[in-house]
Amino acid sequence: FPLTRDHVRGVLPLGGTMLGTTRFHPHESNGGIDAVLETLKHEHIGALICVGGDGTLHAAGKLAEAGVTMVCAPKTIDNDVWGTDRSVGFDTAVSIATEALDRVHTTAESHDRVMVVEVMGHHVGWIAVAAGIAGGADQILIPEEPFDIDEIAAQLRHRHKSYASSSIVVVAEGATAKEGTLDFTPPEGPYGAIVAGAIGERIKYELAERTGFDTRVTILGHVQRGGTPTATDRLLASRFGVAAADAVHEGKTSVMTALVGDRIELVDIAEVAGKVKEVPEELRNVARTLARQGAAAFA
Ligand code: F6P
Repeated sequence: FPLTRDHVRGVLPLGGTMLGTTRFHPHESNGGIDAVLETLKHEHIGALICVGGDGTLHAAGKLAEAGVTMVCAPKTIDNDVWGTDRSVGFDTAVSIATEALDRVHTTAESHDRVMVVEVMGHHVGWIAVAAGIAGGADQILIPEEPFDIDEIAAQLRHRHKSYASSSIVVVAEGATAKEGTLDFTPPEGPYGAIVAGAIGERIKYELAERTGFDTRVTILGHVQRGGTPTATDRLLASRFGVAAADAVHEGKTSVMTALVGDRIELVDIAEVAGKVKEVPEELRNVARTLARQGAAAFA
């Protein structure tokens, strides 16, 4: 049905999607692409604006190859879409995770505990690093840098012996151990989404075993993905929306709106598809440096 102003009025402070969503990949299902083409023809839809993360972009690319006029806008809390500095949703997820860390500090400090906090992010550590730094985590475990659980435990023991009585460990749901150190594979749902919770529980167990510290785990899960978006995300979504609509009106296709520095640009979907934007070394270094400095300052 036509989306009128009446339909979209008041959506700015809402999360989620009024159109609904699914992890279904039409190109992986027999006759899936043909069914989409048939629906578009039947409904007289001349162009699609697809909003989502790497799975959406991949499917959108396949539809573009099949002749659909296609413009995409990156939206995923994981912030792992290649070609754009930011995806819509990331800022909100980081804000929620940071607030959760601020709150978890209270119990950690009051009860002298190690608090493990698992955040989302799929196979990258953007949320973990950003919220971990902003929320003052003492260790941040991310997929980009496989961890050695013995090393983490040793650092916590050193920290608690030297000066601290509590610690916060942030673990990204996709974090993995260094080869040969811990036998763990994150459970995956259909279409490769990580099922949240497993790594957090495992890290809690392993750290408690190795350190003897009173240890608890908090799995933030889908809390990070819902509720009202931050002003930064609303602004970015609005900018992407206008750029995407303009692109369609200008007859562009197979492009994605992207934030590059402070500008909105259009990038080719082909350049983006299949690539994952990992946390850059500079940001990882900040996380490492702060964890190290905390230990060094009081050692
Ligand atoms: O891609 C967004 C995301 O929230 C990931 O961080 C997470 O791995 C996945 O989705 C969870 O998916 P589902 O809601 O299907 O469990």
